[in-house]
Amino acid sequence: MHLNHPDITKVLVTADQISVRVAELAAELDEYYADKDPLLVGVLKGAVPFMADLSRAMELSTTQDWMAVSSYGSGTISSGVVRILKDLDTDLDGRHVLIVEDIIDSGLTLSWLTSNLATRGAASVEVVTLLRKPDAAKVKIDVRWVGFDIPSDFVVGYGLDYNERYRSLDGVGVLAPSVYS
Ligand code: PRP
Repeated sequence: MHLNHPDITKVLVTADQISVRVAELAAELDEYYADKDPLLVGVLKGAVPFMADLSRAMELSTTQDWMAVSSYGSGTISSGVVRILKDLDTDLDGRHVLIVEDIIDSGLTLSWLTSNLATRGAASVEVVTLLRKPDAAKVKIDVRWVGFDIPSDFVVGYGLDYNERYRSLDGVGVLAPSVYS
C-alpha cells in the first residue's frame, strides 16, 4: 500500500529512503558480523518487513528466529513489564544475537528483551532498529544501529500498525488524528 494515502497527514520516511538506509545498515552489519554467524531475532509483528528487507540486503548468511512479546498495561503506553507470547526456537548459547526492531519508543520493551536474551548464554546481544523516537525514551539503551530518528508522533507503516491496520504501507507516516480520536 502506497504512503500516499488519505489517512496519512505527513510523510516521515519514504520507501526509497528506507531502501537506501537498509542497504547502508546491511553493509555495516556484514562487516561487523563477518566471522560471527549472527542470529537475527525479529520482534513480532512490527519487525517483519524490516527483517525481510534487511536480511535480504545482507550478503552474509544469517539464521533468523522470532519472538512475540506483549507489555502489560493498557492502551498504547508501554509499562515495561513484558510477557513472552512466543519464545525463540533457537538455543542462544554462544550465539551472536542481533535483535531486529521496527521502533524504539519508550525503550522499555527492548530494555527487558536485551537483558532477557543476555541471560541465555549469548556471546553478544546487539540491537538494530529502523526507527527511534529519542524524545519518548524512558530508559537509556545501547542501540548500535539506528535507521532514522523520528519525532514522537503517532506513526504507522512499514510494519507499524494502528489496530492492526497500515502495516503494509511502503513507508512511514503520521496517522491523521481523526482516524484514532
Ligand atoms: C512496538 C514495537 C516495539 C515496541 C516499542 O510493538 O514493535 O516492540 O512497541 O515500544 P517501547 O519502546 O515503548 O517498549 P507493539 O507492542 O506495538 O507490537 P507489534 O509489533 O505487534 O505491533
